[in-house]
Amino acid sequence: MRTLIKHVLRFTDPTDSLHVAGWVRTRRDSKTFSFLELNDGSCLGNLQIIADAGIPGYEDMPKINTGASVEVRGKLIPSPAAGQQWEMQATSISLLGIAPEDYPLQKKGHSAEFLRTIAHLRPRTNLYGAVFRTRSRMAFAIHRFFQERDFFYVHTPIITASDCEGAGEMFRVTSLPDAQISQDEADFFGKRAYLTVSGQLEGETFACALSNIYTFGPTFRAENSNTSRHAAEFWMVEPEVAFCDLDGDMDLAEALVKFLVREMLENHDGDLAVFEKFVDKGLRERLEFVAGRPFERIAYAQAVELLKASGVTFAYPVDYGLNLQSEHERWLTEEYFKKPVTVFNYPKEIKPFYMRLNDDGRTVTAMDVLVPGIGEIVGGSQREERLDVLLENFAKHGLDPDAYSWYIDLRKFGSVPHAGFGLGFERLLMFVTGMANIRDVIPFARTPGHCEF
Ligand code: 4AD
Ligand code: MG
Repeated sequence: MRTLIKHVLRFTDPTDSLHVAGWVRTRRDSKTFSFLELNDGSCLGNLQIIADAGIPGYEDMPKINTGASVEVRGKLIPSPAAGQQWEMQATSISLLGIAPEDYPLQKKGHSAEFLRTIAHLRPRTNLYGAVFRTRSRMAFAIHRFFQERDFFYVHTPIITASDCEGAGEMFRVTSLPDAQISQDEADFFGKRAYLTVSGQLEGETFACALSNIYTFGPTFRAENSNTSRHAAEFWMVEPEVAFCDLDGDMDLAEALVKFLVREMLENHDGDLAVFEKFVDKGLRERLEFVAGRPFERIAYAQAVELLKASGVTFAYPVDYGLNLQSEHERWLTEEYFKKPVTVFNYPKEIKPFYMRLNDDGRTVTAMDVLVPGIGEIVGGSQREERLDVLLENFAKHGLDPDAYSWYIDLRKFGSVPHAGFGLGFERLLMFVTGMANIRDVIPFARTPGHCEF
């Protein structure tokens, strides 16, 4: 049976019969033997292999270059070399797949931009291997966080007819031939359909039945923002909690972000060290800082006052009633508070129809969590549970209530206060790894003008 290198490196005793497989990182030859550094992606570390001339398969050694795949059998023995406990003395080696000279990952130190053009090969590098192992571990940690707190995982639909955010940034789904593209009734679903921008609305229906739910899946936005923080396809974690208000919602978001930061700090396989070394020297310190302190909480109106008094010349204007731009969010979290900040109670005009109107009649119970280096990582709210107010919102936002009859039913039948939020999974990954571009934390990025692979 093949053993993953991650387990081999943790062996406590030598063994006579070991079987490993992986991709060669480097090979060095002497007259009577060759050294291989083998990586199988199970962890950052390589296993050093010594293959003596003459063992079965050694005749292929000239072809066992960087990038080639091999299978090796042999013994695990203590290594005399510094910095590693074990090495493998091969008794046989077999070349599975050659990697000719045009294998692009020969040298170290490729740019992130170049590696995006070979996104099918970049997980074989140390850095991207670490990124995508972290992505997997964080996804699992999200499930653990919610499952341990009695939340049920709900699979909300990917294809939908409703625009949750009301921002009109949806990709259309159609099976119509080009010539009939606007004949909605003739289309597959008998009406216009889109890829979802959020599972929230459907999530609310399940929270109003099972109490605590979360959905975690891909979401899509045809938003033409070519920034380092926007992707057209990204994953969102969306909890929804019945009998919960805005304070409870902010508490939950803060607890989730801290839990995931701690998970990153406790990771066992050395991936954090790669990010510290190659991406962000201050990463561990920042994560420890975030995990150990309460986030700042501040009302939108106060945030606007702080920004106006900052003396900073921003590219976008700051005024009550305007959206906070990324530069404003980053000033609040990076320059002013120097820690994560939850901004709440935004003017109703700049927020979607489903947010609960506050007693002041001007603001809604929205909240955004802002973190250093990124800005908004979470967006959420308490939901409008009052039927009459919700119906007024539909009218004000120019939405057809008939299209949302099922959503309105939640307010007709046993309506309860409830709240939830969406955490952008890639933004979270950027935050815990220090990676500066969303394209580098998703396996195959979809951004304006780019749909490769
Ligand atoms: O603030 P947003 O738009 O909120 C919602 O969609 C709500 N329906 C969520 C809810 O209450 N259940 O998006 C939530 C988060 C943002 O804070 C951001 O982290 C991420 O999703 N996000 C994006 N991430 C990458 N690329 C994009 N284009 C993103 N748009 C939003
Ligand atoms: Mg938002």
